[in-house]
Amino acid sequence: MILRGRPFFLLWICLGLGFLFSRVAVSQIQLGSRISVGENNYWVSSNGDFTVKFYNRSNGHSAGIHFNSLSVPPSGQTVVWIAGGDLTVGEGSYFELTKKGELVLFDSLVGAIAWTSQSANSSVTSAVLRDNGNLVLLNRQNDIVWQSFDTPSDTLLPGQNLSSSQTLRAASGNSVSSYYSLRLNKLGQLQLKWESDIVYWTSGSHSESFLRAVLSPDGALQLLDQNSKSVWSVYGDDHNESDVKYRILRLDVDGNLRLYSWIEAARSWRSGWHAVSDQCNVFATCGLNGLCLYNSSGSAVCKCPFTLTSDVNAKCLVPYQHNCRSGSSMFAYNHTFLYGVYPPNETIVHSSLLQCKNLCQENPLCTASTFTNDGSGQCRLKQTRYISGYLDDSVSSTSFVKRCSDPLAVLPVSPKPPPPSAKNSQQKQSHKFCIPCLIGATGGTIGTFLIFQIGVAIWFYFIRNSFRPKAASAYSGPLPKSFSMFPYLEIREIAEDFKHQVGPMTFKGMLHNKLPVVVIALNATLEERKFRSAALVLGSIHHKNLVKLEGYCCESGHRYMVYEFSKTKTLLKCLEDPKMCTRLTWRKRMNICISVAKTISYLHSGCREFVSHGNLNCETVLLDDCLEVKVIEYGLGCLEASIDGGCAEMDVRDFGKIVLTLIGGLEHQDSVECTYKHWSESQFDRIVDKRMGSGVDTDELERSLRLTFWCLQVDERMRPSMGEVLNVLESALGVDSPPPPFAARTPQPKELEEPSESNSAA
Ligand SMILES: *[C@@H]1O[C@H](CO)[C@@H](O)[C@H](O)[C@H]1NC(C)=O
Ligand SMILES: *[C@@H]1O[C@H](CO)[C@@H](O)[C@H](O)[C@H]1NC(C)=O
Ligand SMILES: *[C@@H]1O[C@H](CO)[C@@H](O)[C@H](O)[C@H]1NC(C)=O
Ligand SMILES: *[C@@H]1O[C@H](CO)[C@@H](O)[C@H](O)[C@H]1NC(C)=O
Ligand SMILES: *[C@@H]1O[C@H](CO)[C@@H](O)[C@H](O)[C@H]1NC(C)=O
Ligand SMILES: *[C@@H]1O[C@H](CO)[C@@H](O)[C@H](O)[C@H]1NC(C)=O
Ligand SMILES: *[C@@H]1O[C@H](CO)[C@@H](O)[C@H](O)[C@H]1NC(C)=O
Repeated sequence: MILRGRPFFLLWICLGLGFLFSRVAVSQIQLGSRISVGENNYWVSSNGDFTVKFYNRSNGHSAGIHFNSLSVPPSGQTVVWIAGGDLTVGEGSYFELTKKGELVLFDSLVGAIAWTSQSANSSVTSAVLRDNGNLVLLNRQNDIVWQSFDTPSDTLLPGQNLSSSQTLRAASGNSVSSYYSLRLNKLGQLQLKWESDIVYWTSGSHSESFLRAVLSPDGALQLLDQNSKSVWSVYGDDHNESDVKYRILRLDVDGNLRLYSWIEAARSWRSGWHAVSDQCNVFATCGLNGLCLYNSSGSAVCKCPFTLTSDVNAKCLVPYQHNCRSGSSMFAYNHTFLYGVYPPNETIVHSSLLQCKNLCQENPLCTASTFTNDGSGQCRLKQTRYISGYLDDSVSSTSFVKRCSDPLAVLPVSPKPPPPSAKNSQQKQSHKFCIPCLIGATGGTIGTFLIFQIGVAIWFYFIRNSFRPKAASAYSGPLPKSFSMFPYLEIREIAEDFKHQVGPMTFKGMLHNKLPVVVIALNATLEERKFRSAALVLGSIHHKNLVKLEGYCCESGHRYMVYEFSKTKTLLKCLEDPKMCTRLTWRKRMNICISVAKTISYLHSGCREFVSHGNLNCETVLLDDCLEVKVIEYGLGCLEASIDGGCAEMDVRDFGKIVLTLIGGLEHQDSVECTYKHWSESQFDRIVDKRMGSGVDTDELERSLRLTFWCLQVDERMRPSMGEVLNVLESALGVDSPPPPFAARTPQPKELEEPSESNSAA
């Protein structure tokens, strides 16, 4: 509390009395100061404009620099910087300026450091949140040792430099980093990119000389050369207007770059300039949720014209899968331009409109085509089911989308499905998720589709884009800052000479920043290129239920993965432990199933490319003290086994085993046939783990068992997808009675289209 006199007095008035009751450090931050989740304390700049505090996000809490809530209400966008990029931490976490002069974000849920400023050895003596929103660490000579301005998040404040080594990355709505970034390229132009290689906006000017981008205090975005002379600039429409209190440049979630001004009178942000004038021209701005179009009031909205579900959050997939049983037909969409995402490449040929349709229809791999009709006579053939695009009367393109003639497998979900029970089976029918029908519809296509998906992943990392020549030289996607490649010597150091073995080929250790980790040794003969690319993919995955990959080692004769260490027990250990077992009530066990299903479903379809777990079992599913799920060793099984298909079905089978173990305890895990027999004779008491006590929900039990037997089908084509599994567990879909899991049988579409009658009462 260094401030005295007038500024201090003003601050009182500014921040009100609430201040009195919370522990607050003002402007100058003393070594040892700390702010914590849930304690509502913060650090504030001397002008009162900025605060450092925690805030709630959908998947946890983040520490960041905000506009003071008295200046910009919390309903407006207030965050200008987040510690660790896009990091979130759990309850009870704190952000501290340690006695050693290091900023540390400690995740109490995990019991480990999530991020640090790595300034412990730099003789930091003080820290200040400056009036311009820059959090700086200073040494005794008042030199800046570290500043938040050097690690921007999605926002640039006036006076902050964006040099060629820095990136603005859009915030993300979920647990994966955003694909959108802003950087200076080698020619000194600002570029907006999607993923690592699709450029959808480039600023003017180029010059080989050293450049940096800044937002001037009067509201211009400028490129300055080494003499601070402007070589390129854009001005907001309210540039130089004095009644604007704050200005920021932000790369928004929708992928557009905008200059914002805070209009005090309206108490809101106003955009005075945006980089991409037609929002629909931002690559994949609708993500997987459809095509971009303008509604009658002129807002860009996302719609999926070719699927039948009305759920706006549903993925927009071309309703055609390779290997369609009953043939396919092409549907025309006028004034529509389509492009593929995941992967974005396509084949371009010259043809007529009619040929463009026929070429796609005749090619079993083609899912959609677009005839540009702009005089170029180009027909763009796409093979991916993940398609985006735009739709407007001014667009001259016509697109064709292939649709299987098979009947629809999954019925749209009704908002309130009644719990499935024998009594209202009539009503149940309409909500039934009929897996046999699905199999009738998709048959053996899943495997083919998976091979295709894996192809997509491989394509992403190895193969250069065929129609966009700007191939990235190396992977430069949104890797977390802390993800590292370790030389073998460092691995030995981290693993403390492999002294503390905690499992087969698994060692406990510690990174240099004191972050405890687990080092796992892998088969040293794994092909280097494959291993590296897999490590990079796995390192870019973030999910609260996945144990984070901190780094890897890939040297001749050495292959290691380094994971964060969390205080957890394997599910197997938990089920063996009688004390723990009583804590694992029916509800808890079902929640564990749902968490695991969510996590695996995320790996399968929520990541930028398909990732399978490959080794899902009671030892790779961990539980922390709060019985929250953490999944480890994802993506490794397939690497070792070099499987070229069926990875998802394998995960589904393994998931089924886990559910069965959770329901029946450890004794039942190897006797699927016995359990099936008991289930078909409604002898539930012989199935359920006695240690759970009462509280077993019989409807839920029936549903979970049916689902499990579907997951354990010998014919892997009959197994549901992880997304469907999740829907059934969450009661969004019903599930039919399964055939015996141990009998491989070829589904006959006729027979399977009729949902079989439930033969076991709940
Ligand atoms: C943030 O989350 C905590 C608990 O996680 C809750 O108590 C608090 O009310 C939330 N704050 C806001 C502003 O939503
Ligand atoms: C800090 O200094 C100590 C002792 O000299 C050294 O062991 C450590 O590796 C250094 N840490 C960093 C981050 O440089
Ligand atoms: C921005 O870059 C210029 C030129 O290198 C430098 O003088 C200035 O201190 C930088 N500003 C900040 C906040 O780092
Ligand atoms: C900004 O406004 C001031 C007067 O308010 C004027 O003198 C100055 O030339 C203006 N600058 C620009 C770049 O328009
Ligand atoms: C257009 O979309 C915007 C944003 O989603 C919405 O607020 C507005 O109501 C929509 N207008 C019409 C006419 O649907
Ligand atoms: C699309 O355009 C064709 C040719 O102009 C026209 O015959 C057809 O009716 C249009 N379809 C729709 C749905 O507007
Ligand atoms: C996309 O690129 C990959 C690799 O170059 C190629 O194998 C594949 O056929 C391409 N897809 C299309 C539709 O051109």
